[in-house]
Amino acid sequence: MKKIIIHGGNKLHGTVNISGAKNAALPLLCATLLCGGEHRLSNIPHLRDINTVIQLLETMGAKITRSENSATLQADKVVSVEAPYDLVKTMRASVLVLGPLLSRFGKARVSLPGGCAIGARPIDLHLKGLAAMGAEITLDHGYVEATCKQLHGATIYFDTPTVGGTENLMMAATLAQGTTILENAACEPEIVDLATALSNMGACISGAGTDTITIDGVDHLVPMNHRVMSDRIEAGTFMVAAAITKGDVTVANADPEYLDAVISKLSESGATVEHTPAGIRVIGSAQIKPLQIKTSPHPGFPTDMQAQFMALLTLAQGTSIISENVFENRFMHVCELQRLGSNIRIDGKQAIVEGVDMLCGAPVMATDLRASASLILAGLAADNTTEVARIYHLDRGYERLEEKLLALGADIQRVSA
Ligand code: EPZ
Repeated sequence: MKKIIIHGGNKLHGTVNISGAKNAALPLLCATLLCGGEHRLSNIPHLRDINTVIQLLETMGAKITRSENSATLQADKVVSVEAPYDLVKTMRASVLVLGPLLSRFGKARVSLPGGCAIGARPIDLHLKGLAAMGAEITLDHGYVEATCKQLHGATIYFDTPTVGGTENLMMAATLAQGTTILENAACEPEIVDLATALSNMGACISGAGTDTITIDGVDHLVPMNHRVMSDRIEAGTFMVAAAITKGDVTVANADPEYLDAVISKLSESGATVEHTPAGIRVIGSAQIKPLQIKTSPHPGFPTDMQAQFMALLTLAQGTSIISENVFENRFMHVCELQRLGSNIRIDGKQAIVEGVDMLCGAPVMATDLRASASLILAGLAADNTTEVARIYHLDRGYERLEEKLLALGADIQRVSA
């Protein structure tokens, strides 16, 4: 088991390059199941979750060659339409093979993902939508068995905006007979990236990025040749790192248009945020102002940035209130931040954060992906030494985080526990 050791107090300086987006790459990789031929994908981050989904596609018969941050994928001969439990339980986004398999092969057997640290995370809306498109869905010993000779178009209203559900059904609808309309769809930028790739494959999609997406089914798709968008959550994480260390960091190849809420809240907290030719520059302020944060689906404040901002606000001059409105259990980082001397109280969906003057380094334990980032950010600002254990959570979604922080002047290293 590895852990990360941080000696806090260094101000970060310099420029960091943002990797490709995990939450765009995962559905894009699953979309290659939609047709044979050689798909090309570039700017793929090196992450555990990416390795898991590639392993899954290979068990299905896909031929995948990776070089640097690119991959070629051929799904001409898919020998299995099953996503087994041992893979899905480690990476729930594996359920995104459902739509492509059903649309192209008329069948799929995918393990129910089960819950995770941040919530129950059901896939009922995915299944409800596929059933509306004509799929026969049964649950058998923890697996979703889905069959359908030919999916047909449908108008599907999501009770709650779901990123994965929107992606699964958008992919399923590309080869369905007729028109599918997704209403109350998620608007995340990763969905726009997927829709762009699907359109380049010959799909007929309009409205991606809005709450109503229309897909006119086509008979045939061709392989994608697509560059994964940059990771807005990694970018936001480094922007908070600049603010919490009172440093001066430029985040290169990030899309500011996808970071409006994060930039707005960071500026409100007192940091200076500038758009420069080299990227988004963040200069931390001597005093961090308290904030009110309410997470919500895009374009609202992203739930995936909640833990990182909580770390920042533990050192604010005053009381902040963070409402987590997307997931029911996404405060696992609070107990660990309290070990570092923060003053946080949970009241239902809200975390009340009383700013303190100083965090004190201590051994802490990561519980999920963004909690890991939160603890590392806090460790950068804490005095003495912070040790973050169970960093396999971190490696699911951040490419070489400690190396990138080291290059910005952090005193940080990965060691064997
Ligand atoms: C995606 O998860 C992201 N993961 C998550 O990022 C992100 O936090 C989340 O969207 C919200 O933005 C990937 O893209 C791989 P949802 P997803 O379906 O698709 C409920 C990270 O840190 N819901 O939009 O699983 C659900 O319980 C990860 O990178 C249903 O009730 O999220 C949740 O409360 C964490 N029924 C809400 O909707 C369903 O069928 C939003 O979930 C589906 C979802």
